[in-house]
Amino acid sequence: MTINSIRGFRDIAPPDIFIWEAVEEEAIKLFKSFSFKPIYLPIIENTELFTRSIGDVTDIVEKEMYTFPDVRKGSLSLRPEATASVVRYYIQKKLFASDPIQKLYTIGPMFRRERPQKGRFRQFYQINAEVFGIESPYMDALLIFILNKFFKRVGIENIKTKINSLGCANCRPKFNKTLFDYIKNQRDNLCGDCKKRVEQNPLRVLDCKNEDCRKIVSKVPSIIDFLCEECKIHYEEFKNNLIDQNIEFIEDKNLVRGLDYYTKTIFEIQTEELGAQNSIAGGGRYDALIEMLGGKKTPAIGFAIGLDRVCEIISTLKKVDEAIDVYIIALDRESRKKGYDFFLQLGSKNIKVDIDFEEKSLKSFMKKANKLNAKNVLIIGEEELKEKKVILRDMNSKEQFKIDFDEVAYKVEQKICKKK
Ligand code: HAM
Repeated sequence: MTINSIRGFRDIAPPDIFIWEAVEEEAIKLFKSFSFKPIYLPIIENTELFTRSIGDVTDIVEKEMYTFPDVRKGSLSLRPEATASVVRYYIQKKLFASDPIQKLYTIGPMFRRERPQKGRFRQFYQINAEVFGIESPYMDALLIFILNKFFKRVGIENIKTKINSLGCANCRPKFNKTLFDYIKNQRDNLCGDCKKRVEQNPLRVLDCKNEDCRKIVSKVPSIIDFLCEECKIHYEEFKNNLIDQNIEFIEDKNLVRGLDYYTKTIFEIQTEELGAQNSIAGGGRYDALIEMLGGKKTPAIGFAIGLDRVCEIISTLKKVDEAIDVYIIALDRESRKKGYDFFLQLGSKNIKVDIDFEEKSLKSFMKKANKLNAKNVLIIGEEELKEKKVILRDMNSKEQFKIDFDEVAYKVEQKICKKK
């Protein structure tokens, strides 16, 4: 019996993976331009890191974490997101001592035991950016700028940038109380999940998708009207900055996030391309989290892009060029030795090259070259070996000519560079 992968877990393989690579490259280019540095983090952490940061009463912690006991370390979990780990790293390595301002990015798999569906997986990938030590709303606006630039560059134009502010420990309790008083009277009309949320996490009722809940919360006053002076000014400056940069946004008073650590600015990038799973990136400020996890009080903000969702949209929008530059055809044992030599030479020059080390007819090799979408083939057989020359054939124009062995790397590179 064969063994297959488990539900919600999948292989990312060619041809899809070429889109993934291109998307990651685009993100990395942007991060580098804006002075972000990369980090790789473990995918397993102490469970407590997530319960304390994401919040006990969240869907992620209550229902979706892959948690297991460890003989010596108590309870461990597969990370459901990266922010908590980046914060753990910042505190553990005392980065605030060398320079409290850190701009970091990390790309990798996250794990949530959600019900799999289009755009929703149990192992999914995020592109994360986290910034520590900057309180200024310039940074909030910069992250939105980067996200908008990123989606434009990867070809996803049809996006909505939704923003809101959740205030801080000074002003949010007042809003929470008003919200609680309002929805507790409507408890009977709320959905099953929200009935529980009323006591434990009333903010989450605001973004429930259930029609009855939506009707009820539409009458709840806006959290923005409850912001303290500091949060209000921060939010206004953030918005003005977006306006200055001509970035379109939608203020959504019911936007809240599925993680409890947020303060002030929150945002989500949404698209209609993927049906129900419309969020392709989300993030916000978490100015209290570092202190909450035992570090020095440090403002922070970040976002995560859902790589699976982005790539799924792009794969329906465009096809990636998988063509290789040169396919080497070596027709016999002796030619293969020379062919292998050219393979190494061309590969070392960043030319996309391939060779099959097998005995086949020229016709079958040419068939393979077509299948690989090769732009050129190099052909070496008995005669070429004697002449110390190789045939270079352009698969598009069908033109071909011979090149001396010791000029192959140089001439092929020239031809390919000219075309590029
Ligand atoms: P999040 O909204 O939970 O935020 O996730 C960010 C993005 O990850 C979502 O917008 C979505 O595109 C993608 N995503 C989430 N769950 C799944 C899933 N099951 N399958 C496929 N894609 C998914 C965070 O994780 C925060 N840590 C973001 C952040 C960073 N906030 C501050 N810094």
